[in-house]
Amino acid sequence: MAAPIDNIFLRDKHVKFFLRCLQVLPGRYSSLDTSRMTIAFFALSGLDMLNALDVIEKDRQSIIDWIYSLQVLPDKEGNGLCGFRGSSTLGHAFDVQKASEKCIPYDGSHIAMTYTALASLLILGDDLGRVDRTAVLSSLRTLQLKDGSYRPVSEPSENDMRFVYCAACICYMLDDWQGMDVAKAAHYIINSISYEGGIGQGPDLEAHGGSTFCAVASLQLMDRLHGGLSAKQSKKLQTWCLMRQQSGFQGRPNKPVDTCYSFWVGATLQLLGAYHFVDRPSNRAYLMETQQPLTGGFSKWPSHSPDALHAYFGVCGLSLMQEPEVLAMHPALNISQRTADRLVAIHRKWRDSSVES
Ligand code: FPP
Ligand code: ZN
Repeated sequence: MAAPIDNIFLRDKHVKFFLRCLQVLPGRYSSLDTSRMTIAFFALSGLDMLNALDVIEKDRQSIIDWIYSLQVLPDKEGNGLCGFRGSSTLGHAFDVQKASEKCIPYDGSHIAMTYTALASLLILGDDLGRVDRTAVLSSLRTLQLKDGSYRPVSEPSENDMRFVYCAACICYMLDDWQGMDVAKAAHYIINSISYEGGIGQGPDLEAHGGSTFCAVASLQLMDRLHGGLSAKQSKKLQTWCLMRQQSGFQGRPNKPVDTCYSFWVGATLQLLGAYHFVDRPSNRAYLMETQQPLTGGFSKWPSHSPDALHAYFGVCGLSLMQEPEVLAMHPALNISQRTADRLVAIHRKWRDSSVES
């Protein structure tokens, strides 16, 4: 008997949805214009997870060039917060060839845009050859606070676990941890374990699925997951994560389930080696309720509009359950395993050329 329509993963619809996210967006997305890089990442990584990058092949090079246009390079005196901007509407995008005389106030990078730009370049098959790795890493180091956490921009701002995660991804992708005092960052993470067993955005804050993922994935990228957490902490964390499954997953107790936590909490369980305890049919059934058959994409809740973030994490949540037609993930880096494997080859090339020189 054929599967009922609402139980079928609509891969081709999702391909079209992600393609539309790379085009001119509807007006309701206008507040996200300054974070355009993150939307592009969700779309590109979504297409990668669906093994559908062929649909953007003719635009691949122009998307790579657009991402490099967002790179903030050091000025003639070596100043500036280097990394990537979120959008061409910010600062002096497309000015990449000219080193400015003096860095331009407020035209600096944002840590989440740097992380998503690097990941997107890798997905597109770029070798990060045009990234000013030294400048990115020395700028990154200036964003780390005394307590080990990171802020996202050079101006005084919020600081929390999200930006620790972005910093860990940047160091990992650039194969250089000079952008981080790793011991301090690990201390911040361990200090953020709450009495509940999950992990908050910082010390003494409520445990949450999003910050728990950021914390555990950062430890994994730093190679401090095993040994960083005691056996007791790890067990309590696993239990806290497993208790977040209702049908799909919620982000914290007494809150509604939401598509994205099938990734945030699911990937954490995968990193902790406890994904086999997940009730996969219930999780999949929830994701199928938030899949949008007309437009493609996923919404956070059933009968709501889809958006790029939930479309992407819906696909990732299914990847963790080995959905056919979805590639396997590197759960800590939040990219396909195939793209993560290409990164290994790039690192090997960098290491070989630094031995030669
Ligand atoms: C909603 O909070 C917030 C989310 C669904 C995002 C959680 C994800 C993170 C914090 C990780 C972000 C990572 C990076 C790299 C930027 P809420 O209080 O509205 O939701 P709730 O009611 O489900 O708790
Ligand atoms: Zn969500």
